[in-house]
Amino acid sequence: MFARSALRSLNQSRQFSSSAARQTKVAVLGAGGGIGQPLSLLLKIDPLVSSLSLYDIRGAPGVAADVSHVDTNSEVRGYPADKLDEALEGVKVVVIPAGVPRKPGMTRDDLFNTNASIVRDLAAAVARVSPEAHVLVISNPVNSTVPIVSAVLEKAGVYDPRRVFGITTLDVVRAARFLGGLTGSDPKDTRVTVVGGHSGATIVPLLSQTENGKSITGEAYEKLVHRIQFGGDEVVKAKDGAGSATLSMAYAGATFTHKLLRGLNGEKGVITPTFVKSPLFADQGIDFFSSNVELGPNGVEKIHPLGQLSASEEKLLAACLPDLKKNIEKGKAFVA
Ligand SMILES: NC(=O)c1ccc[n+]([C@@H]2O[C@H](COP(=O)([O-])OP(=O)(O)OC[C@H]3O[C@@H](n4cnc5c(N)ncnc54)[C@H](O)[C@@H]3O)[C@@H](O)[C@H]2O)c1
Repeated sequence: MFARSALRSLNQSRQFSSSAARQTKVAVLGAGGGIGQPLSLLLKIDPLVSSLSLYDIRGAPGVAADVSHVDTNSEVRGYPADKLDEALEGVKVVVIPAGVPRKPGMTRDDLFNTNASIVRDLAAAVARVSPEAHVLVISNPVNSTVPIVSAVLEKAGVYDPRRVFGITTLDVVRAARFLGGLTGSDPKDTRVTVVGGHSGATIVPLLSQTENGKSITGEAYEKLVHRIQFGGDEVVKAKDGAGSATLSMAYAGATFTHKLLRGLNGEKGVITPTFVKSPLFADQGIDFFSSNVELGPNGVEKIHPLGQLSASEEKLLAACLPDLKKNIEKGKAFVA
């Protein structure tokens, strides 16, 4: 069930972890949901996770009882609605998929009114109980929820920008899969750096930087870019009112979490796109941005620049920036 590449990576880290021998307590906030359940399962089989703390306002103890029977070494505990603080005790990494998903016709920004306050309140609990935790935000709109989490932590005096991440890995996963399908190559050979933000036009795939990607031109290029930017809509439409991507998102969430854990354990050269506080476009008032980031013992170790862009990518970037700026400002204004 678990993709070959993920298993390969887990096996590699099994070897790595036996020498590093450092494992981590991870919490999932929203563990009872469509993403939360499979994400909890995938984290249960991650050898770098020593303990899993599953929290939701509904159903987390049941998910925890179920997942806890999987025959890996980690401990699993579930926490009901009134036990958020207990769920966060001693936690080093907090993954947040709590909140409502899209229905057909909705943009991610349409989720703001509901999810902004959910994320704000969860971030306040992190600030209170586990202020040194790394916070990985899945809840949409990521372009706004990451600034919200950051502002809440900042207000509480515990903000370290190296420890707050928006998970944009699903865009990277989709780009590799769609490009692989188009070129007939294995997705592992079609890794694409995706930069910007995580919604529609703010998603900017840098296909020109991939060997297989730079040969795609004209209409095929336009269609591929559109599919990477709006791939989530395919799932929302097919689920027909029952939500958005959950299984592929759980895979993407577990993949990113595993990379962060490798970095936290001291492994060098772990680089992946993620939406973080970034200097790249800060002079234009855009102080959160996704680009390749090297992960290390403190979280963000190094933010990589975008590198060489094609003329088409320059245009995509020009379309991304104003939207992204608005989304970030909306998040900040919510907490101000
Ligand atoms: N970053 C991405 O690439 C990406 C991809 C897909 C979906 N998402 C987002 O992830 C979020 C979750 O999606 P889903 O399909 O799992 O939704 P879902 O409705 O199936 O699950 C959400 C869960 O959050 C819980 N919840 C609500 N308020 C909570 C709170 N205050 N504390 C703890 N838990 C709470 C709910 O009880 C529910 O179990 C949505 O915002 C969705 O838009 C992000």
